Amino acid sequence: MKLCLIGTGYVGLVSGACFSDLGNDVICVDRDINKINNLKKSIVPIYEPGLEELVLRNYKNGKLKFSTNLKESVSKSDIVFICVGTPTKKNGSGTDLSQVYNVAKEIRKSISKFKIIITKSTVPVTTGDEIEKIISQKKSKKLFSIVSNPEFLREGEAIRDFNYPDRVVIGTNDKKSNTILKNLYSPLISKGAKYINTSRRAAELIKYASNAFLATKITFINEISNLCEKINVNVEDISIGMGLDKRIGSRFLRAGPAYGGSCFPKDTKAIITTADKFKVNLSIIKSVIKSNEERSSLLLKKVFHILNGKIKNKKITFLGVTFKANTDDMRDSSSLSMIPSLSKKGAKINYYDPTGEKKEFTKFKNVNFSKNIKSAINDSDLIIIHTEWNDFKSINFKKEVSNKNFKIFDMRNIYSLTKMKEQKIKYFSIGS
Ligand code: UGA
Repeated sequence: MKLCLIGTGYVGLVSGACFSDLGNDVICVDRDINKINNLKKSIVPIYEPGLEELVLRNYKNGKLKFSTNLKESVSKSDIVFICVGTPTKKNGSGTDLSQVYNVAKEIRKSISKFKIIITKSTVPVTTGDEIEKIISQKKSKKLFSIVSNPEFLREGEAIRDFNYPDRVVIGTNDKKSNTILKNLYSPLISKGAKYINTSRRAAELIKYASNAFLATKITFINEISNLCEKINVNVEDISIGMGLDKRIGSRFLRAGPAYGGSCFPKDTKAIITTADKFKVNLSIIKSVIKSNEERSSLLLKKVFHILNGKIKNKKITFLGVTFKANTDDMRDSSSLSMIPSLSKKGAKINYYDPTGEKKEFTKFKNVNFSKNIKSAINDSDLIIIHTEWNDFKSINFKKEVSNKNFKIFDMRNIYSLTKMKEQKIKYFSIGS
């Protein structure tokens, strides 16, 4: 099939590359000339394992093309995916849909035969209705169908998530579009993905409700971990014990720092805005947001406690600063509030991240990037394991750290409490 994906950010680029790998003819469009020129040289703007190889292979075999010409690319395609950004509005409430609507107006100019136009970006309920209104101002409704097809890709796992999704959600009442899209996704359906066809609004809401539920699950276990710390119980036992109940499930039940990233914080806020618009009180999600926002200060209190309230001139090392492993994404990472706060209190911060130095910390004079784990932890007073990269899972701390009184605060619970005790390491984790 002939596909066009508008916006070569995370969603557009990963989906475009994966669709081309399934044998479709794909054009990825972006207005950023530099980005497109780089992509033509297989320089991928985001860190995502396996993506560069996928782009290179499919660009070479001609299945994947890159362009800045939206008009021409849309004209050549049967299915158009809108994958542009949908950030939170500058005033902090609601989603800024200007890019989506501008693209809709551009697409409108190139419709001369039937096209399926899909929102893949996460868009609030009723956005599809709005796009339909915009396009039907100039084009007959017979010439297009607006469909919602949310993505459920995780950063760092996106290619696997694309190829082996739990479900493909297609939101449309149009039978013709449904048949075409079922066919497009048939290689994934035949590998076990469930295909569901819902109304367009339902598909839009499925995405927000899923992210809000996952954020709730994480926040729930984070709060349970707070209780565990008071009653001398290990939260890992609780996660296992709860997770084995199939109704609950073990995934997204890992206690840790505040959840971050470009999706959960943004989408939980956006679903509240939508609900407010319809005068519905989503009180659970509101509490989740509040609890998550308070989490970083709660963990900072624990840092003070570990260091007996003495922060000034203490050497504190952060292992990992991104919001999770296998990504270079810093958006809404809890390190963004923790590091400046400790730095203000006079701590000397070193950090190491496998994805390199971060511009977010360059303005702090007592925050330094170390080129490897060894130099980052060598003379630390406190090592904070902030992100669960595999690189951090088997460090011989006794050997690598010269300061004999070092302590570890493992915010991802990647080490065994017993083994740390055996080695007589002063080890603190979450929820124990
Ligand atoms: C999330 C969803 O998982 C995807 O399904 C969705 O497509 C995506 O948002 C999106 O809306 O585009 P992502 O933001 O990449 O994906 O990251 P997750 O792996 O979901 O992690 C989000 C946050 O939750 C991270 O800070 C992570 O450390 C935290 N987390 C996750 C936990 O603290 N505990 C867990 O058990 C799982």
